[in-house]
Parts: sequence; structure tokens; C-alpha cells
Amino acid sequence: MAQNTLFLALIAAPAALAYPWVARMPGVDSSMLGARSQASQFGARDSPQCPNNPNHVPAPLVTDQYPYNGAKNGKPGNGKGGYLVPAPGDTVHYFQAPGPLDIRGPCPGINTAANHGFLARDGITTYNELVDMQQNVYNVGYDLANILAVAGVGLDGDLVGTTKLSIGCDATSRTSLTGGLLADELGLNGHNHFEADTSLTRNDYFLAPEPGNNFKYNNTLFTMMMQTCNGNCNLQTLGEYRYQRYLQSRADNGNFFFGPGSLLLYGAATFLYELFPSAESTGSGDEATMMSFFGANKDANGNYYQNSGERIPPNWRARTDPYDGLKVGAQIIAMYLERPVLFGGNVGPGNFDALNFSSYITNGTLNQQTPSYALCLIYQTITSGFPAEVGNIVNLPVALETAIANILDPMFANFGCPRNHNSGGSVSGD
Ligand code: HEM
Ligand SMILES: *[C@@H]1O[C@H](CO)[C@@H](O)[C@H](O)[C@H]1NC(C)=O
Ligand SMILES: *[C@@H]1O[C@H](CO)[C@@H](O)[C@H](O)[C@H]1NC(C)=O
Ligand SMILES: *[C@@H]1O[C@H](CO)[C@@H](O)[C@H](O)[C@H]1NC(C)=O
Repeated sequence: MAQNTLFLALIAAPAALAYPWVARMPGVDSSMLGARSQASQFGARDSPQCPNNPNHVPAPLVTDQYPYNGAKNGKPGNGKGGYLVPAPGDTVHYFQAPGPLDIRGPCPGINTAANHGFLARDGITTYNELVDMQQNVYNVGYDLANILAVAGVGLDGDLVGTTKLSIGCDATSRTSLTGGLLADELGLNGHNHFEADTSLTRNDYFLAPEPGNNFKYNNTLFTMMMQTCNGNCNLQTLGEYRYQRYLQSRADNGNFFFGPGSLLLYGAATFLYELFPSAESTGSGDEATMMSFFGANKDANGNYYQNSGERIPPNWRARTDPYDGLKVGAQIIAMYLERPVLFGGNVGPGNFDALNFSSYITNGTLNQQTPSYALCLIYQTITSGFPAEVGNIVNLPVALETAIANILDPMFANFGCPRNHNSGGSVSGD
């Protein structure tokens, strides 16, 4: 099959469906395919199995008695890590396993924070809770904390209205204001918004034996990761493991998609050795630490199994210096270069098509391989509503793109990124 014609159609006419997964996504009404569609027309619909805890308690702000990083109300903290989390005696931040009515999702860093009450324990969080939590728990730099919060709330929650986000399933009735939606609010489980294929420990959306399970801990995958890490999850071993997962998805998943947003997945993988290890051991992720943050135990035969919840290890200290945008950019490109792969997706099992994206990716290859380039590509991707390259169907409305760009522009200007003037929502330019 001549894929080039397909791609030309894709690039020239954004509504064309090059990748088959697009038509099959929640939030995509196939009767609207071919027409410029408005997310607001889709209406609010919580996913049927989404837990609903009527007792929503916002995460308490940090106090003078237990200040952590001092980060409150979405403002910058002091950037000084090294403290114990949770602080001894700070019972509101002690571990509690999630109950059946609490939402959890694909991100172990966020699930852990919710299990420790740094985010609302029911799993309905806000932009400010996310920015505060990342600083107070992990000493994430203020710029990176905002970038991740914008990506999360902007693509999966309600950035312009309530600033709320479900950390897992679609809970639109609780994240949105009543009335029209600017965009779908699928929660962090939303496939190919932020969540994507080739995750470390989560199924690809279309490979999940239980329909829609792209977000739960998978013991087979965790075991595979631990075997590849061999006691030390670091840049090299995780680079190798991400490559194994890429090959697996590309071979097995007819709806495989590995777009520019997948650079964020390299970022998440760096968190295993940059954010999860306790302060005095930064640079390596040992098995016990990984088990704790991924919510796994080991039985007498050495087999892993899932326990009651992701948890901060005992006597754990936040990393000393902030993990900021430039540092993560350097690690993302370094991990990618351990095992460079093509960006693109499958149009059927084993039938891979490489991608062109803006000026950044040609024939599936990054045109430059530097940290700032990776960061600027992430900026371009988030501000144009990824995966915009597959058409208007899943694009973000202009008002939302503008809100996202307004928050991100000052940070990415620091990295030397050109501003994204493509406010029409399609990569082909307007
Ligand atoms: C607002 C902040 C954050 C948001 C919105 C967010 C969201 C997400 C999402 C949607 C995924 C799924 C990606 C995939 O398909 O694999 C993910 C994965 C991940 N996140 Fe986060 N995250 C945030 C912050 C953090 C932090 C601070 C940490 C660590 C301390 C973290 C650790 C991870 C890890 C390790 C994964 C990979 C899990 C896997 O592939 O099995 N995240 N995150
Ligand atoms: C991608 O871009 C390159 C360089 O401009 C071009 O040669 C190629 O045909 C494009 N591929 C598709 C599928 O459009
Ligand atoms: C876990 O992942 C493996 C490997 O991809 C897959 O075969 C299995 O069906 C998954 N299990 C569950 C319960 O999702
Ligand atoms: C991209 O692929 C097309 C079609 O195979 C080819 O003609 C073109 O030269 C390639 N461009 C680059 C920059 O590799």
C-alpha cells in the first residue's frame, strides 16, 4: 500500500484519518468525521465505571510546622529538598490506601501523592494542588511542575474553568462547570492526550485484555522492567527497556501510535532515577524503591504482585536540587539517543508509517537531537493540541490552546523556543 498518499492526505487535509485509532477513541464521534467538530458538542459523560467519592476533601496546604518546600497556592516554593517526606508527625500526609470510591490512574508519581494526601485523596485534583505537590513531595522545579500541570489539566481536565482534573477515569461531571465544555475532560486515562502507548508498566489502550485498561499496574510489565533494570533503573537500563516496549507495541498493536508527545514518556521514565530515589542516592533506582512507588510487593518465590497502593518508601527524602525543565530536557534526549526510534504509528498490525511533524520531525526522525530541541518540540506539541497531526477531530479549541500557550510561553521562551503562532489547531498551518 502506498503510504505516501495517505500521509499527504493527512498533512494536507487534517480531518483525514490516517491512523485507525482516531476513529475508535472515546470523545470522537465518528458521525462527525470529515467535518470540523467541536468538543463541546460531545457533551459531558463520565465513564460508567468511574468511582465517585461523595466526600471530596481538597488537599490541605502545607503548614509552618511541616513546610516541605513551602509551595502553596500554585506559587514557587524555596527549591530546597533533602527533607523527609512525609515529615515525622505530619499525620495528614501519612499513607492511606485508596478506597473503592477513589480514582487512581496511569501515573505512579500522582497516585503516590494522592495516597499521601498531597493531592485530594479521592483523585479529583486541581492545577494548584499539582504544582504544589510536585515541589513539596519531589522537589520538581517550578517550570517543570507547571509544564506537567498544564499538559495534564489542559489536555485531560478543565484548565480554563474549574482547573480540576481527574487523575484517572472520566469524571467530567465533577471536573467541569455545568454547561458547555471547551474540550473533553477524559481524565489522565484519556488515550493519546497525555497517556500513550509503550508505557513502562501500563497496557497499550488497544492491547488491553480488559477494554479501556490503559492505566492500571500490569505485573507482567513491571516484572519485565525490573528484569531489564537488574537492580538499577537508570538512563541506560530504562533506555533499553523503553526500546523493548517500543518494539513490542510496534509489532503487536495495529493501532500503535508514537507521536511527538511520546517524548513526555521518556521524561516520565527519567523520574525513576531522578525523582524516586531518596535524596542521598540520586542517580539510581533500586528495586525496593521502584516497588514502593509502583505499588508492588514480592512473594517468597521472588514473584512480584500488586499491593494496596503506591507509597513513599520509609525514611525517604526529596531530591536536593530542583529537577527543572533544562535538566529533564537533557535526560529526555539522552535516553532517546540510547536507542533512537522512529516516530509514527501503525495502520494495521506490523504496518508502520513514519511521521512528519511541523519542522521538527521528518520521516519519523528528529531533525535535531539537542535538549532545547526536545523541549521546544514538547512545547509545540502541547500548544497545538497533541496529537494534532492526526486531524482536527482530537484537536483543542483555540480558546484552550491560547490559555495553554499563555502559561507556557514565558517558560519556553527561557529555553529559546520560538512561540507557537499556530493557533488554528492544525499542524498543516492555517
Ligand atoms: C502534573 C504532573 C503530572 C501529570 C499530569 C502526570 C501524568 C502522567 C500520565 C498521563 C502518565 C501516563 C503516560 C503513559 O502513558 O505512560 C504518566 C506516567 C508516569 N508518571 Fe506522571 N505525571 C505528572 C507528574 C509526575 C511526577 C512528579 C512523577 C514522579 C515523581 C511522575 C511519574 C510518572 C512515571 C514513572 C510514569 C510512567 C508510568 C508507566 O509508564 O508505567 N509523574 N504521568
Ligand atoms: C515528509 O517530509 C519529507 C521532507 O519534506 C518529504 O520528502 C516526505 O515526502 C514527507 N512524507 C510524507 C508522507 O508526507
Ligand atoms: C499485561 O501485559 C502483558 C504483556 O503485554 C499482557 O499479555 C497481559 O494481557 C497484560 N495483563 C493484564 C491483566 O492487563
Ligand atoms: C523522506 O522520505 C521520502 C520518501 O521515502 C524521501 O523521498 C525523502 O528524501 C525523505 N526525506 C528525508 C529528509 O529523509
